[in-house]
Amino acid sequence: MSQVKIGVLISGSGSNLQSIIDNINSGNINGKIEVVISNKQNAYGLERARISNIDAVYIDSKQYNDNVEFNDVIIKELKKRNVELVILAGYLKILSNNFVKEYQNRIINIHPSLIPSFCGMNYYGLKVHQAVIDYGAKITGATVHFVNEEADAGPIIIQEAVKVKDNDTAETLQKRVLKIEHKILPEVVKLYCDKRIEVKGRKTYIR
Ligand code: GRF
Repeated sequence: MSQVKIGVLISGSGSNLQSIIDNINSGNINGKIEVVISNKQNAYGLERARISNIDAVYIDSKQYNDNVEFNDVIIKELKKRNVELVILAGYLKILSNNFVKEYQNRIINIHPSLIPSFCGMNYYGLKVHQAVIDYGAKITGATVHFVNEEADAGPIIIQEAVKVKDNDTAETLQKRVLKIEHKILPEVVKLYCDKRIEVKGRKTYIR
């Protein structure tokens, strides 16, 4: 099977991006990252891409009239490189409906909680983990899912739980959840590239 062409969207440090790069380099994932795109100029993930000789593109949303126009520019960058799979790895902007339609069931996102808890608009970064602690939840985790028109609401592919400790802070919890993210995101990307994920309505099946 030929390598799946991947595009990764980021806004920050890109540690999840790194976990994919490492798994590709070790031969675990039958894919190739064609481009990393960031909406933040100083995102360290862009540097990680450059270090690995991957095209690193910064696109400033403020240069465009609205989110639709901005997303069309991203789509153009992806199409230019024949990207087949889009990975949102800590990408903090909402995709346009046009984008979601264009790449239906070909966009995956990683979220640092057990969806449908602690997710959706305004749940990002440390806020997610603080909300888990404030609620008094005993278990949280990470979720990899396909992206649809609603935030964090598409078909779930893999989830893994993490126990919340009595003395956890948002920071300590984030650290343990991130470790799980670095495990399950590459796992899903591998499954996708091996064409082992089937989607039926809201559900996914691993074959
Ligand atoms: C991760 O917690 C991810 O789940 C969320 O944003 C964070 C990104 O971290 N969507 P990094 O940029 O991959 O280090």
